[in-house]
Amino acid sequence: MSDDAGLDRPHVFLPAEPSAAGPPLLLLHGTGGDERDLLPLRGLLSPGAAVLSVRGSVLENGMPRFFRRLREGVFDEDDLRRRADALAAFVETAGAAYGVDPGALVAVGFSNGANIASALLLRRPGLLRGAVLLSAMVPFAEPPAVDLAGTSVVVSNGRRDPMIPAALTATLVGQLRERGADVVELPHPGGHQIDPGVLPQVRELLGA
Ligand code: MLT
Repeated sequence: MSDDAGLDRPHVFLPAEPSAAGPPLLLLHGTGGDERDLLPLRGLLSPGAAVLSVRGSVLENGMPRFFRRLREGVFDEDDLRRRADALAAFVETAGAAYGVDPGALVAVGFSNGANIASALLLRRPGLLRGAVLLSAMVPFAEPPAVDLAGTSVVVSNGRRDPMIPAALTATLVGQLRERGADVVELPHPGGHQIDPGVLPQVRELLGA
């Protein structure tokens, strides 16, 4: 994965503005998106904060993703492990280049981006400060026994999400809590989407 070795991987970096109060964000888009998709979340979640937004390096029928899947909801876990490690390396390289401590970053991922964000937490505990997982599934059937104490996670899934039954959300939340993560659930009434109604609460949690 040589595209991940330097700063060549497509991404956007926005430096912090003097008024920034909240944490810097690592933005991770959903399937078919790119590094520009989630930029509006900066103003809604952590106004003026530094932002690193990265494009997934896998193409599925022309649609960028962060890792391969065998079919909808069934992940290629070997590929997910490799891609999560490559993304972690990119975050470290970009953090050093742009002067942002990865340990201060909160990953904000939607759908496929949420799933690679969970994989990052589980593969590289301590790399990031935490994560906001929007429409998130279970990245690993049997995640590694890591210590996520001190890692804050928000999980916001839709009660009407046809791809994510409540039991799947419960499994994800359980896996993270069993490993010591501080998990807040913010369910919303919608489907597989980012519900704008929960964003003020997420912002409050990030600022706390
Ligand atoms: C997606 O369409 O991106 C799925 O919901 C999640 C995934 O494949 O990671």
